[in-house]
Amino acid sequence: MKRVMLIAGGSGSIGSAIAREAVAYGWTVAIHGRSEDKVHALVADLSGEASGEAEGFVVDVRSSDAAELLVADVAEQFGRLDAVIDCTATGPAGIVGPFSDTDPDAYGTFLDLSVGWLQRLAHAAWPFLEQDGGTLISFVSDAGVFAAPRQAMIGAARAGAIGFIRNFAMEAARSGVRAHCISPSFVEDSESARRMGSARMEKAARRAGLGLPTARDIAPLAVFLCSDDAARITGQVISVNGGLNC
Ligand SMILES: NC(=O)c1ccc[n+]([C@@H]2O[C@H](COP(=O)([O-])OP(=O)(O)OC[C@H]3O[C@@H](n4cnc5c(N)ncnc54)[C@H](OP(=O)(O)O)[C@@H]3O)[C@@H](O)[C@H]2O)c1
Repeated sequence: MKRVMLIAGGSGSIGSAIAREAVAYGWTVAIHGRSEDKVHALVADLSGEASGEAEGFVVDVRSSDAAELLVADVAEQFGRLDAVIDCTATGPAGIVGPFSDTDPDAYGTFLDLSVGWLQRLAHAAWPFLEQDGGTLISFVSDAGVFAAPRQAMIGAARAGAIGFIRNFAMEAARSGVRAHCISPSFVEDSESARRMGSARMEKAARRAGLGLPTARDIAPLAVFLCSDDAARITGQVISVNGGLNC
């Protein structure tokens, strides 16, 4: 039976590159997103071009039972779940920028969408992941590891996700389950690069000795970490940033 990978936020820039890579390696991929059109367009694009298969799932992660519903839908459709990759990007307004300009009313929601959502997703997926030694991967960002101006809120949320994954990984290893964080910084041709604007991207590109990655540079790492070849690796936080932060 083919192994099943759920990519939460799979219709986004990085998630869709991972979906393409995973399908090429024979995974059955459950692609999640918020916009039905985006999810279905990606599923249609992937169908028939590779050895695996893809199916779409649309759930808004802002509802408290979203993780349970999503995992239950995927499990009902495919009967198993071997890898969960969280690529959702849910930053509300009032979080990015100089700390004094951020909105305290947005802090709680942002932390819950960043860390609480990941924990609920891991909790819902656990009974499936432990069946056959599955993998959980959380996309974070370098702000959780390397200090930078204008990132105090993002850094706090990402550090929370990293703390969860590393502690979870120690415990989960006893059940054969692995967990990692992948940490991008600036990703060329992504939605957030467009949101960030060309001036900041160009400045970052000048500092990245290897050149800034695209989503296609990140996808193979995610698929490798979910493969049997990575069976003895867990609890790692791996930056893919072209040498911007080391
Ligand atoms: N790209 C970068 O430069 C960069 C840098 C550092 C860290 N990261 C992190 O890497 C991960 C992936 O980034 P990305 O560039 O692929 O992001 P993206 O292109 O913006 O994709 C985000 C995904 O999350 C989904 N999503 C957002 N809000 C949702 C909601 N309320 N309910 C359900 N789904 C929702 C989006 O669906 P819709 O499109 O339908 O809303 C989309 O599938 C994120 O955690 C991001 O913060 C990215």
